[in-house]
Amino acid sequence: NSGKRIGIFGFGCVGQGLHDVLQDNTHLEVVKICVRDKEKLRTLPSNRFTYDPQELLQDETIDLFAELISDPEEAFFIVRQALKAGKIIVSANKKMVSENLPELVELQKQYGGTLLYEAAVCGSIPILRTLEAYYGNEQLQEVSGILNGSSNYILTKLDAEGLSYDDALQQAQELGFAEADPTLDVGGYDAMHKISLIAAHAFGALPAPSDILRAGIQHIAKRDVSLAQALGARIRLVASAKLDIKHKLLVQVLPTFVFPESELYYVEAEFNGVQLKAKYAGDQFLKGRGAGSHPTGSAVWADISAALAGYKYTYQKLDRAAVQLEEDAALKLY
Ligand code: HSE
Repeated sequence: NSGKRIGIFGFGCVGQGLHDVLQDNTHLEVVKICVRDKEKLRTLPSNRFTYDPQELLQDETIDLFAELISDPEEAFFIVRQALKAGKIIVSANKKMVSENLPELVELQKQYGGTLLYEAAVCGSIPILRTLEAYYGNEQLQEVSGILNGSSNYILTKLDAEGLSYDDALQQAQELGFAEADPTLDVGGYDAMHKISLIAAHAFGALPAPSDILRAGIQHIAKRDVSLAQALGARIRLVASAKLDIKHKLLVQVLPTFVFPESELYYVEAEFNGVQLKAKYAGDQFLKGRGAGSHPTGSAVWADISAALAGYKYTYQKLDRAAVQLEEDAALKLY
């Protein structure tokens, strides 16, 4: 990566995490960081920042971009412009990527640029690359797991420490795990965006929100936690995409009782865990930090290195349209 120049959009939890991670890499030069709020106190001198996205996007000397802002529309605008210029851009914005994936894939094919977004799904766990590179030719049957660190942190604190829901949520926010709007976390929307992207890379089907049965954790009460404990279980927000017997894909995000026999039982606090069931490889389980400044910054850095080395997603499963979504999936469950 020697002599490469990067422009960064966003200096929140993930942007600062990336900046810290890059301190250990002297070969990559951060040109400037584009932020919106001129008044906010920053940990870097003001000449490190710009408030005009075009200053970075039109700088011909920049080799690649990192898009780490939370507003999905602004993020899409930036990513689209970078891809139209045939550039490399990495993003951590799961809502933006999952809502615009077909266009983002098309732009890469048309203009030859690269978009990687490993940091958008399960923080530090290399799940998309695993699905793409390792399971590209495998017949996957199910991918399921705990994909939202904030709600898992809250559920862990309710269970293990008897904390109130509001206190646990506040801690998750203070620790930098939650989204700017935490409804995305506790309402199951964040996990929904992540399972959509997982389904696209694992099965070649991109489910829309209306294809996914979704419930969050906002209504989990102390008595639910007590009931789970009495049964020897824990409550976890589990997202899954699985093929049914007719080879249709069922996708859902639901609070679920998990028992000690399941690996998911041992996924605590901001950790995420993903189970893969494949026809030939059998079962596999990946666990790691799913949220937080440095783990997510590390995933962004991994994408930057991979993209500079020429790595691209193949989207071969999307191209093959491997499976179809189950229509009215929510109704078919009952
Ligand atoms: N708010 C997200 C979470 C951040 O809690 O998992 C990581 O995507």
